[in-house]
Amino acid sequence: MADKKATVQVTGQEAFELPIMSGTAGNDVIDVRTLGSKGVFTYDPGFLATASCQSKITFIDGGKGILLHRGYPIEQLAENSNYLELCFLLLHGELPSAEELAVFENTITNHTLVHEKIATFFQGFVIEAHPMAMLCGVVGAMSSFYHDDLDITDPEQRKRSAYRLVAKLPTIAAMAYKYSIGQPFVYPRNDLSYSENFLNMMFSVPAEDYVVNPVLADAMDKIFMLHADHEQNASTSTVRLAGSSGANPYACIAAGIASLWGPAHGGANEACLTMLEKIGSVDRIPEFVAKAKDKADPFRLMGFGHRVYKNFDPRAKVMRQTCHDVLKALHIEDPLLDVAMELERIALEDPYFVEKKLYPNVDFYSGIILKAMGIPTSMFTVIFAMSRTIGWISHWDEMLGEEGQKIGRPRQLYTGAPQRDYVTADKR
Ligand code: SDX
Repeated sequence: MADKKATVQVTGQEAFELPIMSGTAGNDVIDVRTLGSKGVFTYDPGFLATASCQSKITFIDGGKGILLHRGYPIEQLAENSNYLELCFLLLHGELPSAEELAVFENTITNHTLVHEKIATFFQGFVIEAHPMAMLCGVVGAMSSFYHDDLDITDPEQRKRSAYRLVAKLPTIAAMAYKYSIGQPFVYPRNDLSYSENFLNMMFSVPAEDYVVNPVLADAMDKIFMLHADHEQNASTSTVRLAGSSGANPYACIAAGIASLWGPAHGGANEACLTMLEKIGSVDRIPEFVAKAKDKADPFRLMGFGHRVYKNFDPRAKVMRQTCHDVLKALHIEDPLLDVAMELERIALEDPYFVEKKLYPNVDFYSGIILKAMGIPTSMFTVIFAMSRTIGWISHWDEMLGEEGQKIGRPRQLYTGAPQRDYVTADKR
C-alpha cells in the first residue's frame, strides 16, 4: 500500500501530514517526531497510545490475549521450552541449536558466583529489610564491580553483562532471602539446573542434604518463563530510559527493579496473596468485590486488570494450570485457591468487570504457587524481578544496538505560573 499518512489540522494553521509506519503486527503508528516544529506536542500521560520505540522482542495483542516472544506463542514455549532457552531466544532472536544451548547454559552456570564482597553489602541492611530493597541496592552496587570494563557500544561487552546479570540475579535474590531469615548464604552449584540451583540456594542449609523436588523445579522454571518479558511495561520502559543516557547496565536493572516493586505492577503478586488472605473465605468475596467496584474506595482486586490485556492474560491461563498441578503434586489443599477460583468465577460474571474487561493477570495465580512452594510473600516480586531481568536486558541491548539511538527526553504541557519578577521578602 502507498505510504500511509495522517493529516493534522491545527486550528488557525495550514493542515499538514505526518507519516504512518506499519510493523509486522499490531497497530500502525503516526510518526510525530517532527511535530514540535509545528508548535504542538502530543499529550499522553501514562502512555496509553504512545509507541516509545521499535522492537522485535515481544508482541502482545491485548484484545485476543496473544503473547509472542520473537514470534513464538507463550503457550507453546511454556509447554516445550525452558527458561534458559527462552533467555537465549529473547536476547539473540532465534531458538538455539542444541550446541548453542549447551554453550549458553554452561556460560550462565559459570557466571553464577558473585564477588565475595557482595556478601558484606547485606550486613548494612536491618534484618527486617524487604528483600526487594536489598535486591535493588545490591544490584545497583554491582556497578561498582564492573563499571570500568564495559563499553556499551560494543555488542560483545553488552552480551557479557547481560549473561552476568541473568546468572547472578538468582544468587543475589537467594542471598536476600537467607539474610532475611538469618540463615547462611548458600553458594551456587554447577551440577544443578538454573531453577534447581535457585531452589537449592533458597532452601538448603549446611546442616543436612537438600534434594530439589522436581515438581517444584519445573514449576519454578515455568514461573520464570511466564514473567520473562512483556513488551514496553513500566519497568522495561524504565530500563530503556535509564539505558538511553548510557548508564551502566547494573544501574539500569536496579532502576527496573525499583519500578517493578509498585503494587500496580510487579508488586501485585505479593498484594494479591495478601488480599486473598484478607478475604479469607469464599463467603467474604462479595464484600471485597463491592469494595473494588466502589469508586469512593481505593481498593482494587489485585491480580485483575491490565493496561493491554482486555481478555484473559495468556500467562494467567498457564499459571492457573501450574497452580493446580503443584498443589496436587504436593497434596496441598489451600483454601486460598478455593477463594481465588471463586473470586475469578464471580469477577468474570460481574457486569462491572465484564464491561471494564478486567480479567485475571499473570499475578493472580503466581502467589498461590509460590506460597505452596514455601516461598514467603515478601520474595514474590523478587522472583518476578529475577525472571524479568532477561526481558529488561534484552530491551536494553536492542535499544543500544540501534542506529542513531537517542537519549529519552519527553516534553510536557506546562500549567505553572507565567514568567514573573522576583519579589524581595519585605514586599511579599
Ligand atoms: C503487571 O504492563 C505490563 O505488561 C505489566 C505486567 C508485565 O508483565 O510487565 O503484565 C505485569 O503489572 C500486571 C498487572 C498487575 N497489577 C495488578 O494486578 C494491580 C490491580 N490492577 C490495576 O491496578 C490495573 O488494572 C492496572 C494498573 C493493571 C491497569 O490499570 P490501567 O490500564 O491504568 O487502567 P485503569 O486504572 O484506568 O482502570 C480502568 C478502569 C477504572 O475504572 P473507571 O475509572 O474507568 O471507572 O477499570 C478499573 C479502574 O477503576 N479497574 C479496576 C481494577 N483495575 C482497573 N477496578 C477494580 N479492580 C481492579 N483490579
